[in-house]
Amino acid sequence: MPLQIVRNDITKMEVDAIVNAAKKTLLGGGGVDGCIHRAAGPELLEECRKLGGCETGDAKITKGYKLPCKYVIHTVGPIWRGGFGGERKKLVSCYKTSLRIAKENKCETVAFPLISSGVYGYPKDKALRVAVDTISEFLTENDMTVYIVIFDRKAYTIGTKLFKDIARYIDDNYADEHTDKFAEKRRRIRINEIEYPEDMMADMAYMAEAAAAPKALRNMPLSLEDAVEDVDESFSEMLLRKIDEKGMTDAQCYKKANIDRRLFSKIRSDRLYKPSKPTAIAFALALELSLEETKNMLMKAGFALSRSSKFDIIIEYFIKRKNYNVFEINEALFAFDQSLLGA
Ligand code: AR6
Repeated sequence: MPLQIVRNDITKMEVDAIVNAAKKTLLGGGGVDGCIHRAAGPELLEECRKLGGCETGDAKITKGYKLPCKYVIHTVGPIWRGGFGGERKKLVSCYKTSLRIAKENKCETVAFPLISSGVYGYPKDKALRVAVDTISEFLTENDMTVYIVIFDRKAYTIGTKLFKDIARYIDDNYADEHTDKFAEKRRRIRINEIEYPEDMMADMAYMAEAAAAPKALRNMPLSLEDAVEDVDESFSEMLLRKIDEKGMTDAQCYKKANIDRRLFSKIRSDRLYKPSKPTAIAFALALELSLEETKNMLMKAGFALSRSSKFDIIIEYFIKRKNYNVFEINEALFAFDQSLLGA
């Protein structure tokens, strides 16, 4: 999955490069900067001394020394001044410059902290938005796996209104599914208590079975061979058909779905490939399918959307609002402690 939000200490990330939220002197400090220097050892500071500092929005690279990564890319984020001092533009530049330097150094995996969102005071939800938007834009043109590392779970929130909206939606729908209404309970008890004659019971059982059977079963083919011949369009076939119908290229689709190119190739070349549920949903979102079509596509991979799962309800929430942004949805899933799409 090209962009992942993870909860971790960035100094533990086994990636080609980690990014440091540094200060202009590049001579170490508190926060993530302090953690990185402590974990890398004094040689990092030695190399930093030779760099001659760094401007806000710019970035410079060093080796990783005792860290598990090859490189540290030091970038200087803007200090938050209420949003009126061009902070966003400077923060975008931090991510863009760091990613460019990572690419020039042939890094395939890079981890970012939420730059500026600590001592420099950039509101965390806004800082995350900038990180997600800038990184995902870069990933539409480049193959790289990028992690946004969130350290302090307590301080992390998605937009408060969005969080409340989703929480209410989950509550409403969860309740529907889980409330055993009194009237229903009573009805069920009454039916179970009535004694029917045996032949009537048999008829009722047959009728119930017929009603519950899928249509395909009711029109049962004559032989097993016929049945196998009659196999439906597979997940992979539906995916490729939908990509064509939407006038997208394969790359546009898997990038929008936040799916790795290699995984997409596997799905494309194997008619019967069975994706994971988050992968199937990520493709449905990238294709901007309606809720019905999404359910249909999921069914082809053997899955459903259920009102008993928070994950599913959150997906439904976004599809109903025609918000197909996988990255935004992942932020919300992360905030509700659910597994992420494309993972
Ligand atoms: N791993 C991942 N993220 C972390 C870690 C960690 N080990 N430690 C903190 N964070 P900050 P800034 C998060 O203050 O706002 C320094 O003194 C933290 O929760 O480190 O850009 C520099 O020298 C927060 O969300 O960086 C500068 O003077 C994010 O990292 C100044 O602070 C950034 O917080 C830079 O301030």
